[in-house]
Amino acid sequence: MIMVVSKVALLTILAVALLPWLPNAVDINHMKQLAAQHNVTCILTFGDSSVDPGNNNRLATPMKGNFPPYGKDFFNGRPTGRFTNGRLATDFIAEALGYTKVIPAFLDPNLKPTDLLHGVSFASAASGYDDFTANLSEVLTVSKQLEYFRHYKLHLGKLVGQQKAEYIIRNAIIVLSMGTNDFLQDYYLEPERPKQFTVEQYQNYLASCMFSDIKEMNRLGITRVVVVGVPPLGCMPLVKTLKGESSCVKSYNQVAASFNSKIQEKLAILRTTHGLKTAFVDCYKVIEDAVTRPRQYGLEEVSKGCCGTGAIEYGDTCKGLSTCADASKYAFWDAVHPTEAMYRIVADEAIKSLSETLLA
Ligand SMILES: *[C@@H]1O[C@H](CO)[C@@H](O)[C@H](O)[C@H]1NC(C)=O
Ligand SMILES: *[C@@H]1O[C@H](CO)[C@@H](O)[C@H](O)[C@H]1NC(C)=O
Repeated sequence: MIMVVSKVALLTILAVALLPWLPNAVDINHMKQLAAQHNVTCILTFGDSSVDPGNNNRLATPMKGNFPPYGKDFFNGRPTGRFTNGRLATDFIAEALGYTKVIPAFLDPNLKPTDLLHGVSFASAASGYDDFTANLSEVLTVSKQLEYFRHYKLHLGKLVGQQKAEYIIRNAIIVLSMGTNDFLQDYYLEPERPKQFTVEQYQNYLASCMFSDIKEMNRLGITRVVVVGVPPLGCMPLVKTLKGESSCVKSYNQVAASFNSKIQEKLAILRTTHGLKTAFVDCYKVIEDAVTRPRQYGLEEVSKGCCGTGAIEYGDTCKGLSTCADASKYAFWDAVHPTEAMYRIVADEAIKSLSETLLA
């Protein structure tokens, strides 16, 4: 009897020791070493709400997340403008590289000159590869984000000198994360683009926008680019609600997946013909997997968001609503955006991809 009990106890201890979500375990110390070996200086981000830490707070747009319950699980439970309950994937990546726990917004009025050294975000919620998408919500187009990047470079030069500024930018990791709004806020909602393009032509157009944006960044001195793919759009609670489906909407997922292939083709060209170092973060794969096998990732609720009913609310319509008790068990914070827990999973995937490609 005693023998049996101790065997059970032993098995329990083994199980507990082996359990903590191994599929995505990442060696942070190894990551810091790699970053140092490659002289990585900071992270600079461009894109939409997936990487906007609060630039939209400064804009006259309804696309904001700087009120409760956003930021509920951020340091001090403070809303920042991030469209989630805590930190974004890029905040976790910056932390893993060893620089800073959060990447601030370039337009943050509290930004100190020295913050520029550790990386900033130029991203703007509701933006996309197509400038027309950002214009629909009166947020920062990528062209405008690039203009702010030029300002950043000037400020940096004044702070540390021209040569050091160029070194910082050459060794920075640039992250582009957008595309969702080009489909959901633009192509599938507004008449202009469908009049001009079939879905496939539009995907090609978006990929060519990405290509020329990265070439422009390269002219400004960057050499390392990470592009985050579009997530499985059909698995977003809002899309499922609008389409009246209980499982992921296949047609939307297919559009996201085929667009991601086009992004990767462009990245291959940037590597071979422009000598850039690139990495692709397959957030489609990781989010779809998490939605299919939540327990593998420590999640329990993957069909609805944590804010309000979880079926339709995001941004303004989530303002002041009550939330689920434990967002760390949810994949989605609102009907569109991932929770901090999901962003941590995406960050693990990104760090893996970085160490296998960009910093290999
Ligand atoms: C990092 O910097 C050192 C010295 O400044 C240089 O020798 C080395 O080649 C750089 N490494 C990479 C991967 O750029
Ligand atoms: C977006 O708006 C800016 C500023 O009004 C304008 O210059 C630009 O042409 C617009 N772009 C598109 C694609 O609508």
